[in-house]
Formats: sequence, C-alpha cells, structure tokens
Amino acid sequence: MDGTKKTLFSGMQATGKLTLGNYLGALRNWVTLSEEYNCFYCVVDEHSITVRQDPAELRKRARALLTLYLAAGIDPEKNCIYYQSHVSAHAELAWILNCFTYMGELQRMTQFKDKAAKHADNINAGLFTYPVLMAADILLFQADLVPVGIDQMQHLEITRDIAQRFNGIYGDVFTIPEAYIGKSGAKIMSLQEPEKKMSKSDENPNASIYLLDDPDTIMRKFKRAVTDSEGSICYRDEQPGIKNLIDIYSACTSKAPKDVEAEFSGRGYGEFKEAVGETVVSVLKPLQDRIEELSKDKTYLDTVIKNGAQRAEYVATKTLRKVQKKVGFPERIR
Ligand code: TRP
Repeated sequence: MDGTKKTLFSGMQATGKLTLGNYLGALRNWVTLSEEYNCFYCVVDEHSITVRQDPAELRKRARALLTLYLAAGIDPEKNCIYYQSHVSAHAELAWILNCFTYMGELQRMTQFKDKAAKHADNINAGLFTYPVLMAADILLFQADLVPVGIDQMQHLEITRDIAQRFNGIYGDVFTIPEAYIGKSGAKIMSLQEPEKKMSKSDENPNASIYLLDDPDTIMRKFKRAVTDSEGSICYRDEQPGIKNLIDIYSACTSKAPKDVEAEFSGRGYGEFKEAVGETVVSVLKPLQDRIEELSKDKTYLDTVIKNGAQRAEYVATKTLRKVQKKVGFPERIR
C-alpha cells in the first residue's frame, strides 16, 4: 500500500440480497475512492450475528459480498479486502472500547432502537454494543475517512467521541475519522414505496432490484414501479416515484436530473420506465458476468481472502498492541 495516501475504511454486512441501492449508493463510490486512498474494505460478518443468522447462509453471503467487492472493480493488490472475523483484533479492541463507552450513549442510537423494536425477542448485548464494534473497525486502521450513508452517521459520531475520549486520557492513540459523504451519493428508494429507502431486507421483492436479478426481472420490476397520476417526468419531491426513477437513470448514465427531465419531456411513463430498466440492465450485466467469472475461480478468491486477512491483521495488530499497552495490560514475553 502507498504510504503517502490517506487511509479509508468501510464495511458492509452480508445480510440480505444486495440491491441496486447498495451498488449505486455505496459500492460504486468505493471503487472510485480506491484509486485515491488506501482502502480497507471489510465484510463485517461479526456485525451480522447481532441478529440471528443461518450459518451456511451467512457464510455463502459473506463470500458473495467479497466477490462483489472484486467484481465491482476494487483492486485487492492496491487495497485490502477481508473478512472482519479473520482479524481477531476487531473483537479485542471492541472489548476495550466497550469500557470507554457509556450506556447512555448507546441507548441514544436510533438504529439500536429500531432494531430492538424489530427483533423484540432477541435484544442481545451485541446489538446494543454494535456501534462499539464499528468504532473498533475504524479506529484499528487509523482511518482518516469513512464513507457512510446518512443512516450510519450517528455511529460515526460515537466513534469520534470514543476516540477523542480515549485520546484525552492516553494521548494521541487514534486518528479521529471524518465521514466521507459521496458527492453523487445516490440514495435509491423503494420501487413500491418511494418514500422508503431501497432495502435488502424489504419483504416485497418488487420493491428492490437485486444485483443478481436477470434482465427480464429487472424490466418487469421497473414496469411495475409505483409512480403517480401527474403524467409528467419532473424531478420534484411531490412525485417521489418518478424522482427516484430519474435518480436511478441519472446515477447509471451520469446525466444530471435536469438533463434527464429534458430528455424525456413529453414522453409517457411507460416509455421512461423501459428506458430506466434498460440502463440498469446495461450497468448490472457486466457486473454479473464478472461475478460469475470470479466465482468459478476458487483459488484466486481464496488467495485474496488469505492475503487480505494477513494485511489487515498486520495493521490492526499494531494499533491493538499500542492500545493494550496504554490501558495497562502486561507486556508480552517473547
Ligand atoms: N454498520 C454499517 C452498516 O450497516 C457497516 C459497518 C460496520 C461499517 N463497520 C463499519 C461501515 C465501519 C463503515 C465503517 O452499514
């Protein structure tokens, strides 16, 4: 890795089927950023078990997600792609940071409140301390930047608070990370309820375009996308369905929403939906081909996994040892 570049860390969970929203809103930006920064892109499988998972399914999805990182175009030689569970420093630092995080702070996390309401039968301690593990992820790598969506901003804020608190006591141990809010950070909404974010956990399969959907399915879902009775292709909040379709088209073609409006002015919704569907197919097809190709190459994937873990472990352990020393753990005897 290049020592002159700043460090960037981000992670995604391997739960649910990944959607077009994950790709256009996050992953595609990760690829661009990977040229400019030293990036650690993690498959955060330890976060996933804060809600109950089927083991075989989790393993499969974690591998699919890592494959997707590669298929999207992240170069594993220049950056680091790895599984969180392969680097034990995550869990170890999380423990230490737990002792520097207040119950009250964690109780304020809106994601905790939402998830606790959704999984009322399994409000476990891991779900509660989820943001502390996330803080450990970021701080282990002394990340300068963290690309996150709005929904994760509160977790990034608490990460900064924990780091500042720790530095305040022990001196400059952690780099204080900044959020990186993508310029074009397209926020893709549900095709069925365009007021809601397109989500991998949506129960209605027509609401989301999954990254592995075949062309027919994609076209069908766009045909069924909820619009309105205005009959005009305008980019405005009063027409959330159409606005979302414009956003999708605009994200796929790099055309500004204004230009998309102009391009389709006077045309019908049916025609527009078809055009959006076609562009999405043309963006996803090469990605799907690449995923298929990579999935067949077990040796290559395994090499990436092994090297990624080694590299991440090296950097993470350095920070962990420093922290352990600061808090007063006895020195290791070699
Ligand atoms: N909590 C994040 C999410 O669900 C995933 C995540 C875990 C993460 N650790 C991270 C994101 C560290 C950025 C940095 O989206």
